[in-house]
Parts: sequence; C-alpha cells; structure tokens
Amino acid sequence: METVVSGIRPTGNLHLGNYFGAIKNFIRMQEEYNCFFFIADYHSLTTHPTPQDLHGNVKQVLVEYLATGIDPEKATLYIQSDLPETAELYLLLNMNAYMGELERVTTFKEKARKQPNNVNAGLLTYPSLMAADIIIHKANKVPVGKDQEQHLEMTRTFARRFNRMYNTEFFPEPSAFNFGDNLIKIPGLDGSGKMGKSEGEGNAVFLAEDPKSIRKKIMRAVTDAGPAEPNAPKAEPIENLFSLLKVVSTQETVDYFEEQYNTCNIRYGDLKKQLAEDVIQFTTPLRERILEVAANEQYLSKVAKMGAEKARESSAKTVKEAREIIGFRSF
Ligand code: TRP
Repeated sequence: METVVSGIRPTGNLHLGNYFGAIKNFIRMQEEYNCFFFIADYHSLTTHPTPQDLHGNVKQVLVEYLATGIDPEKATLYIQSDLPETAELYLLLNMNAYMGELERVTTFKEKARKQPNNVNAGLLTYPSLMAADIIIHKANKVPVGKDQEQHLEMTRTFARRFNRMYNTEFFPEPSAFNFGDNLIKIPGLDGSGKMGKSEGEGNAVFLAEDPKSIRKKIMRAVTDAGPAEPNAPKAEPIENLFSLLKVVSTQETVDYFEEQYNTCNIRYGDLKKQLAEDVIQFTTPLRERILEVAANEQYLSKVAKMGAEKARESSAKTVKEAREIIGFRSF
C-alpha cells in the first residue's frame, strides 16, 4: 500500500473551504492509503518564534481534524514535535542541503521580505525539515497545493541526493497527490477569490463559528445592483453566493433562486438569509462535535500518544537505517 504524508500548520480554525478541500481529501485518503497526518508545530516557529499559545493552537487543529472525520485508527495522526527522529533526519539532510538552492526558494524569499528582522536558519531550511517529515515515512504521495509544489520538488532533490551520495536506493521520491476533479472550490464572502485566501475577517465561515456570527457575515457578503436584464450573466460575487448555495442547500432552493435571478426578481437579502440558514444547518453538527472533542482531554491525550507511537515506529526505523547507510556505528 502506498504511503501518504501531509503536514498541517497550526494556523487558524478550519473554515468551509478547508472542509471541502483538504479535509474531504484526507477522509478519502485514509481509506485507501497508509496515511500519516501531522501537525507541523516545529515549522510554525519559523514565522512565530514566541507563540502566544502553541499548545492551544496545536490542540485546536487536533480537535478539528478529529471532529471532522480523521479517524486515528485508520490514519496515523500525530504532532511533529512528538517525533525527535524528524529533528535528527533534518540535521542529516541539512548536511547536504546547499545555501544557494535554499536561498532561491520562493517561500523563503517572500518570508525573508515579510520578516526582515527574523530571517532565521529555520526559515532557510524550511524545505529540509519538510523533506524530513515526508521521507521519514518513505512517503510516495503528498497532497499539496500549488504553494507547496516547490517544497515537494526540493524533497525529491534531497531524497535523490541522499541516494546518490550514499550509493543507495533508500528513499523513494514522493510525488504530488491529486484527486483530480474531486475538489470543489469554495469562494470567499468578499466577492472574489477562495475562502480563507484573504485574511479579512468576513471572508470565511468557520466550522466552529456560532450561528449569530455566521448570519452576520453572510448578510454582509458583497453583492451588486442586481441583474440588468433577464438571464444576465452573474457577476463574480453573485456567482460565489450561488456556488455556496449549491454546496449547502437543496437543489430546489438553488433552482428557486436561479429562477428569481433569471427573471430579475431576485432579492439578495432573501438569498443571503436562506444561505445563512443552510450554512448553519450544515455546520451545526460539526460545531457540536468540535466542542465535544475539545472537552474530552482524555481522548485527545490518548489519540496524541497513540499517533506518536505509531509514527515513531516508522520514523525510528528509517533514521536507524539512514545512520547505518551514512556510516554511523555504535561501539
Ligand atoms: N509546508 C506545509 C504548508 O505550509 C506544511 C508541511 C510541513 C507539510 N511539512 C509537511 C505538508 C510535509 C506536507 C508534507 O502547508
């Protein structure tokens, strides 16, 4: 069975866009692959060296992934910093990672520009840490978005280089995972682009958000002056509201508002009211489950421990063998 690895940065709560993107994919992957999903708390220190609440951020991710359907019995769900082996493989990979290639990575250049007073070595070696995460389980597949493609390319480079330098075929070269047409794009509420893309407060609906707040956000979503003539094409913000409606409402509801739009009788206020109620109906069981899991410290502790144990089995084996390949021997 092929192995999949994916890391999740502990930044922010899950929104509907994450749910229909990454989460749906993870839930499907855990049925078909040997999956390792982990919370990348080491990585978060490259941009947030003194986090307000590191443990709380990690917990939030753990809770939301469990609540939305990641099954810790099927996938190995763990916390990056629970695996000291990752740090060791990262060190070994760094010996063969070159300044020049690391400095050329787009995300490094962007972050160096954004945080000129904290261009730290962790930021520079972000790709070798990510490579360690992936090849420590000898992963074949990594589900990544466009922004992570270059990092995955670096992972292949480091894996290939290790194999060549130590004359071995130890590490497989992982490729990007793609479910193809499976991904539904969830637009944001600010009229353009993806949900969660802009940091703007009102752009995303979070899974754990309370109904009052959801109503307020959706009622504030961007619209236009209405169709100028029957069957007019929809402007992007309107198209976006319809896209959301299609995800959370019944076909009947969608058809009704399409009809209203096409006959120039649409009242965006009504559309948004309906959308808000249907979004709330959709997210309510998820929110309740999130609250329930968050309150169950015992369960969380059991899951984290079990994940760390399963992940360490695989990572300890890899690091032990990598050390032997390089030439470390015990006396
Ligand atoms: N860099 C990834 C991101 O920003 C997170 C990540 C860390 C990751 N290690 C990984 C993703 C290993 C996939 C595999 O989203």
